[in-house]
Amino acid sequence: MIRSLQLFILAIICVLNLNAQSLKQFTPGEIWKDNNGKHINAHGGGILFHQGVYYWYGEYKVGGKIGNSAQVGVSCYSSRDLYNWKDEGIALKVNETDPLSDISKGCVLERPKVIYNAKTHKYVMWFHLELKDKGYEAARSGVAVSDSPAGPFTYLKSFRPNAGYWPVNVQSFHKKPVASTVKASYCGGKGCLPAPPDSINLLGRDFKGGQMARDMNLFVDEDGSAYHIYSSEENSTLQISKLSDDYLSYSGKYFRLFSGRYMEGVTLFKREGKYYIIASDCTGWDPNAARSAVADQIFGNWTELGNPAMGKDSELTFHSQCTYVLQVQGKKDCYIYMGDRWNPENPIDGRYIWLPVEFEGDKTVIRWKDSWRL
Ligand code: GAL
Repeated sequence: MIRSLQLFILAIICVLNLNAQSLKQFTPGEIWKDNNGKHINAHGGGILFHQGVYYWYGEYKVGGKIGNSAQVGVSCYSSRDLYNWKDEGIALKVNETDPLSDISKGCVLERPKVIYNAKTHKYVMWFHLELKDKGYEAARSGVAVSDSPAGPFTYLKSFRPNAGYWPVNVQSFHKKPVASTVKASYCGGKGCLPAPPDSINLLGRDFKGGQMARDMNLFVDEDGSAYHIYSSEENSTLQISKLSDDYLSYSGKYFRLFSGRYMEGVTLFKREGKYYIIASDCTGWDPNAARSAVADQIFGNWTELGNPAMGKDSELTFHSQCTYVLQVQGKKDCYIYMGDRWNPENPIDGRYIWLPVEFEGDKTVIRWKDSWRL
């Protein structure tokens, strides 16, 4: 009896140890276990670095196709070394009781990102929101706020960007009356539009009601100004919008870029005074060849520099789609490409592709590594 009790206790200690085993490297595409020994569940994610801690926010997915819609909410994990992550629970929960809530269970809540506002001392989350049972036609931005990084976040509102405002680089043809043949919403994918986006003036179409915003990211510049970058105009064109000082809404100042280039999974980051974009092409959950671009100023002119991925499987960005580029603190020139290897049949099993971003002149370069350390 005592012997079997001893064996039982030993077994428990072994399991606890296995779970607590500390990771010392990244292994892109493999199961990535958190402090509880469970595969990290934070897809389409992004990172906030705050007071020595990294916080990873992402879509909490469940198994089966239903997991492509939001059944739970936004998860949060914390880490000091970027290899080992502690489950901080659900930072923003979908609304399970009110079917009329914008974020009712079953809505599409994608690519959540969190930034910290030093003036208001609030943690501000933005995400791409599609209303329940409405496909991808709402194309809204959702905003939630919290007093602490791991949440709980309180949902505030959802809306379309910049209703009633023209971008700083508007062209005169955008202001002409919009043809009645321009439907309220096409299917939202590449190849869905009947003509090049500018020729049917989607910007003008959405001037009154606000611009569409789907795949998205946030970026805080050195002066504290925050920007929202997103796929707009039926995903055909990117827009970068400056946020209000409290980061809770838009300032009305925005810029259009890469019209007709259908960029998704867009990331925005800065290095030595230059702004960089790494984005994907527009092919749904299927991987494609990434894009990259550089600019001296955030509101242009942006120069496209091609696929940053190099080597085998680079034409599919190593079977991943970008979600964030993380600047590692305290290490010069240390940036990490964070991508998702989606599994739409069983979203909970989506994998994370983290790889170093190198710079060759102005061009970003990403090479595959089976495993690597900072
Ligand atoms: C992808 C996008 C994902 C998700 C998906 C839905 O292109 O990057 O965030 O929206 O389409 O099909």
